[in-house]
Amino acid sequence: MSVLTIATQAFLDQKPGTSGLRKKVTVFQQTHYLENFVQSIFNSINAPQGATLVLGGDGRYYNRTAIQIILKMAAANGFGKVLVGQGGILSTPAASCVIRKYQTFGGIILSASHNPGGIDGDFGIKFNGSNGGPATETVTDAIFAASKVITQYQLVDMPDVSLDTLGVSQLGAMTVEVIDAVSDYAELMASLFDFTAIRDLLAGGFRIKFDAMHAVTGPYATEILQHRLGASADSLMNAVPLEDFGGGHPDPNLTYAPELVSIMHADDAPDFGAASDGDGDRNMILGKQFFVTPSDSLALLAANATLIPAYRGGLAGVARSMPTSAAVDRVALALNIPCYETPTGWKFFGNLMDAGKVTLCGEESFGTGSDHVREKDGLWAVLFWLNLIAARRQTVAEIVREHWAQYGRNVYSRYDYEALPTADAQAVMAHLLASFATLPGQQFGKYCVQHSDDFSYTDPVDGSVSTGQGIRILFVDGSRIIVRLSGTGTEGATLRIYLEAYDVDVANHHLDAQVALAELIQAALQITQLQQLTGREQPTVIT
Ligand code: G1P
Ligand code: ZN
Repeated sequence: MSVLTIATQAFLDQKPGTSGLRKKVTVFQQTHYLENFVQSIFNSINAPQGATLVLGGDGRYYNRTAIQIILKMAAANGFGKVLVGQGGILSTPAASCVIRKYQTFGGIILSASHNPGGIDGDFGIKFNGSNGGPATETVTDAIFAASKVITQYQLVDMPDVSLDTLGVSQLGAMTVEVIDAVSDYAELMASLFDFTAIRDLLAGGFRIKFDAMHAVTGPYATEILQHRLGASADSLMNAVPLEDFGGGHPDPNLTYAPELVSIMHADDAPDFGAASDGDGDRNMILGKQFFVTPSDSLALLAANATLIPAYRGGLAGVARSMPTSAAVDRVALALNIPCYETPTGWKFFGNLMDAGKVTLCGEESFGTGSDHVREKDGLWAVLFWLNLIAARRQTVAEIVREHWAQYGRNVYSRYDYEALPTADAQAVMAHLLASFATLPGQQFGKYCVQHSDDFSYTDPVDGSVSTGQGIRILFVDGSRIIVRLSGTGTEGATLRIYLEAYDVDVANHHLDAQVALAELIQAALQITQLQQLTGREQPTVIT
């Protein structure tokens, strides 16, 4: 086997964001670009000689090419074995599951999640550690530092490996094992949920519609929902993964999944609708003419957890990202369990789960999960909902409304302003930081500011501190406006405004969130001066 050492020059923009390194495909296609980042990972993670890695991606354009490159580099860098999903495919939660199940040193996941794919779309890569979770900031900082001083990388000079047939082959001294991408994950799901109860629910005429958005979840949903749980074939839509996601934006929300949303709003709508994103870690939950906000979904799953076999013994604790609504906090209070508030990004939940402090976690950005893996998990959330409906035998809307009646409603919405000129977005943030001294006590309609700050977090497990995690404007009545810059966008800057108002009055619970939040939205525009500073009248996406 001949190992080639290739001289290279550092790219200075390989800083991992909220979830790994995400760039346009054309950026990754530059000579040495992917190789530099992969070698920087290998230079930073101190893998012992002969270690095992997991490798797979969401199947988007450039996935196969990248996998061949990474395999050859892993072989040259002394790895003993790589487990690759068949066809180069592994959903993000499935990759996490495989890393844990086979106790590998870690894994490399190729995905730009919910960002569009195709030759003009995005690509991404991240490293997950042996717990199955995204590398902590300490590791991603080390990778970035390594990427800035890299001068060479190594790969073996050998032909491509076949990714389509299950089984073992050799790449020099390294074994490549192509594994079934679905079965380990499907078995894990069957061990957590009451599949018999869900099967009975579906057999009894409960109609579902799952939109895989032409992304990675298609094969997983087909195996689990259709083959194992008996859902009809027409319960699944867009279930064939495509390299460009059929030209769509594989983000399960009311804007980017319009086909599913219109099916769920028709007179003869199914009883339950759901969708997942590019790499299978996000979920959207819908009832008949009813949308469940991800923040409410997290709170509901926590409140109903003991109906699910895996969580029958109760929850150790829960965690939510800072911008996620405080609905789950109220459930935690009632259950007398701890609730942690972390910065945005799943990587902050890993330590809490590893230390046994939390069982369920979630983000407002359509991410929910538990300690069964160390990633958020789209199909897991769908199965959790189906299991709890099978146990309660109520509609989605009834379940949510009962929850609001008991705990109050955290009315919630997020406004995204995508692809802003970076300077404009920074001007908004600078304006907010400069307003901290004068905001407290100011009245905006019915909202009076109590406190404002820039969120920072001290990890209770390893003591690491993360600063600058988003601006919080907290009102006297518990309502909040949060403003932060996205760490996953690949064009200019994306500014997110998160709005949350707490309402215990059941008489208001029928209101559409946009109506219920109208006054808070005005307050947000006034406080941020967004329209004046960016010239943008409307958000790009409202969720
Ligand atoms: C977004 C979401 C965040 C999520 C991340 C990865 O990051 O807001 O909650 O963890 O995608 O799916 P952002 O672009 O806001 O940095
Ligand atoms: Zn994703």
